Amino acid sequence: MTRAAVLRAVDGPVAVEEIELNPTGPGQVRVRLAAAGVCHSDLSLANGTLRQPFPAVLGHEGAGVVTEVGEGVADLSVGDHVVLNWSPPCRACWYCEHGEPYLCVHADDARSVPFARTAENELVYAGLGVGGFAAETVIGAHACIPVPRDLPLEEAALLGCAVLTGVGAVTNAAKVQPGQTVVVVGLGGVGLAAIQGARLAGASAIIAVDPAPAKEELALSLGATHYLAPHAGLGKQIRALTGGLGADHAIECVGRGETIRAAWSATRRGGTATVVGLGSAQDPVQFNALEVAFFARTIIGCMYGSTDPAVDVPILLEHYRAGRLNLAALVSDEVDLHGVGAAFSRMRAGQGARTLIRF
Ligand code: APR
Ligand code: ZN
Repeated sequence: MTRAAVLRAVDGPVAVEEIELNPTGPGQVRVRLAAAGVCHSDLSLANGTLRQPFPAVLGHEGAGVVTEVGEGVADLSVGDHVVLNWSPPCRACWYCEHGEPYLCVHADDARSVPFARTAENELVYAGLGVGGFAAETVIGAHACIPVPRDLPLEEAALLGCAVLTGVGAVTNAAKVQPGQTVVVVGLGGVGLAAIQGARLAGASAIIAVDPAPAKEELALSLGATHYLAPHAGLGKQIRALTGGLGADHAIECVGRGETIRAAWSATRRGGTATVVGLGSAQDPVQFNALEVAFFARTIIGCMYGSTDPAVDVPILLEHYRAGRLNLAALVSDEVDLHGVGAAFSRMRAGQGARTLIRF
């Protein structure tokens, strides 16, 4: 049995209870979680914006220690420290073979297969195939990225979603070049990582946009050169900060039609808006038929920062070790498993950055 934060229905309460994990099958490992971050996608799964079978154990940004290795797993051993990948590529489909493992058609296979049972024998599903809001999980070995044992697992956990997604959006999807100007819209864990990505890429101006004034100091400390609250004159203010042009790049890290539109409008003619936020299928983005060609902007959608975690986690770790990537600063709150509901409330209110569940 293992302790887990179980959600039984859309918008239901999160209850900590004992669940029985499946036996570790062929190609799988059992992992004891050290820490798991609470991401906006967890909230979107919990409130029905994204589809999720129930009962569910959410949590897809985690790191821990391998405690059991299933049949046929050659590249992991008991005691290995790992970061969990919520979109593990099969390495064989068309996308994997064409250098786009973040679009793998099998990446979500584990999401529809139960990974545990409740004490009442109900089948339990792991959010994004990870089930990180549990003291232990059973997961495909190919979803585990080994990391050095001296790396604090509490910081490593953040690599699993926020940092791969935010930094990757800037470096891998937008491919920001030294000297370019970047606007980051939305300063949660993902947006704050994007700011650091822009700094790593050598951006000359990094304009951070968020309605929560508490984000200003944090954004500036992580590399933003300016902070703005969203309002009707935002585009004008951004042009004033970018030589009258608009930014070369905007990175949208909220996931709403309105903010996708604002990100697009923040870029210069010929600029690029990279959309990271995962919003609702009921929330359209509006463009008129003149402006799309007229401004000659590019809009890019971006899954998991267009990264291959097996390749990009080691790159991020190099930045971390060289002091170029601040992981600890992304964590605003540390709680135990009982704190998942409160983390969702803070997120709905736009408060704090990452809440980290510690086991
Ligand atoms: N303009 C700018 N920022 C906004 C706006 C707005 N109109 N409305 C909300 N925000 C800010 C919030 O104040 C908050 O700081 O967006 C931020 C979102 O942060 P989190 O809720 O912590 O979300 P995060 O986990 O960072 O994920 C961001 O990326 O991966 C996706 O599904 C995820 O869509 C989500 C996005
Ligand atoms: Zn996430």
